Amino acid sequence: MKKRLALTLNQELSKNLIKTKGDALVIGVNEGRVLNAQAASIDTVTQGAIKKLIKRGEFEGKVGQMSYIATNDGIAAERIFLVGCGNAKNALSSDDLDKISSAITNSLSSKKSVTGLICLPSNKYDSKELSDSSFLQKLGTSLENKAYTYDAKLNKKNKSINYLKKVSVSLESKDSDTKLKKGLKTGQAIGQGMNVAKELANLPGNICTPTYLANTSKSAANKYEKLSCRVYGEKEMKKMGMDCLLSVGNGSAEESKLISMSYMGGKKGARPYAIVGKGITFDTGGISLKPPATMDEMKFDMCGAASVIGTMQVVSELKLPINIVGIVASAENMPGSKATKPGDVVKTMSGQTVEILNTDAEGRLVLADALTFVERFKPISVVDIATLTGAVIMALGYSTSGLMSNNEDLAKELLAAGVKASDKAWQLPIWDSYQKDLDSNFADMANIGGRAGTITAACFLSRFAENYPWAHLDVAGTASYKGAAKGGSGRPVPLLSQYLIDKA
Ligand code: BES
Ligand code: MN
Ligand code: ZN
Repeated sequence: MKKRLALTLNQELSKNLIKTKGDALVIGVNEGRVLNAQAASIDTVTQGAIKKLIKRGEFEGKVGQMSYIATNDGIAAERIFLVGCGNAKNALSSDDLDKISSAITNSLSSKKSVTGLICLPSNKYDSKELSDSSFLQKLGTSLENKAYTYDAKLNKKNKSINYLKKVSVSLESKDSDTKLKKGLKTGQAIGQGMNVAKELANLPGNICTPTYLANTSKSAANKYEKLSCRVYGEKEMKKMGMDCLLSVGNGSAEESKLISMSYMGGKKGARPYAIVGKGITFDTGGISLKPPATMDEMKFDMCGAASVIGTMQVVSELKLPINIVGIVASAENMPGSKATKPGDVVKTMSGQTVEILNTDAEGRLVLADALTFVERFKPISVVDIATLTGAVIMALGYSTSGLMSNNEDLAKELLAAGVKASDKAWQLPIWDSYQKDLDSNFADMANIGGRAGTITAACFLSRFAENYPWAHLDVAGTASYKGAAKGGSGRPVPLLSQYLIDKA
């Protein structure tokens, strides 16, 4: 995972298209038969290959369309791809930019290119949120994501080859190079943060333990001057009264950890933004054991934590001028002779007691104490991120995260950040009427109840987040892919990063 993509803005590229060496040259082509100067120059050296494709109707230049043309001795690049950028008269939407970005990245990876050259025409955008710079941000994120492969297969012979090592981009634009470079760099940093999160997600539960998450966070803190990290073990958590968090790891041989990262890019003493991640490194369900069929996917139950660790690196890389706290509540949920049993009652750090009716509803238990712990930082806002409920997949599927909040302004900002960064969330209500589903005869509340699984989980959390503006992202459907593409997705690193970038 170590390699990095060398990604640069190179406006000179458009002038030296024919002579620049690379495994692949990607030319953005507009719809409607009028080629811009760059596309026209390639068309000329290829004896009209582009115009021929257009004439035959094989390539029209529609948004996200992809085509391949043969090169010849007159061109230094090994291959040429065409990517449709839509009609030059039309304004592009955020979705269009995503389509164009992935078409570019996919063409580069389709022939396993290591070095890529990308030359794009000028664009118009359909909203003031969009610009050449934000286009390059999306492209940077997309390219960096493609440069990631999971190669920790524990078998040295099996190392996969990494493609995409060096990419230069030129874009016809009125904006300054500084602005464009900033967009590309921001996008790349977000992509790198996503890759950090993907790697942690993909590592198996026997490697990626709470201790592993703690060590990863410490190494990240060593890498960045303004990032620091403190790790609390079980003894220290016991002292702080975190019996609720600790109850989750009771059946496990792995020690539970509370990780507290702090990025101090802002003024000394300025109140921080906080992000809090669920870090269950494996969720068997505990005594309320899960069925075996897809239990392996429960190694992804630390994806909230991974997004926190990834985002802390994004903000450090971008040197944002604000203070940010990143908390990870980590444990392994196992059955065992010391494991918590249904009906057990525990006391939370807040003083409220919880009857644990289902040991598989463990995410909210570790988060409850983490949400109390974070109060000590007097945060401006707190966003928790968790693969919390299967029910959110029933409600929103695999493309959209669930968002719940006790503060409408915060909810709006996060939803907007999700749209901007192509990492969307949708809000669900947490009205008081749902709270009674958590009533218990034996404690202040039960840890499950009612039929609205995603909402009652958030209602449970809300009881520990009363002292600050708080939002909860349920990413059970979005943080990892199923099926052939099984693996971490890096979400919601883009949403969180965008929210913090917009705050800075
Ligand atoms: N980690 C799971 C949620 C989950 C399910 C994530 C599927 C990703 C895919 C969580 O700890 C859990 O087990 N939740 C239970 C809650 C129930 C016991 C109220 C669930 O969703 O079934
Ligand atoms: Mn569970
Ligand atoms: Zn879980």
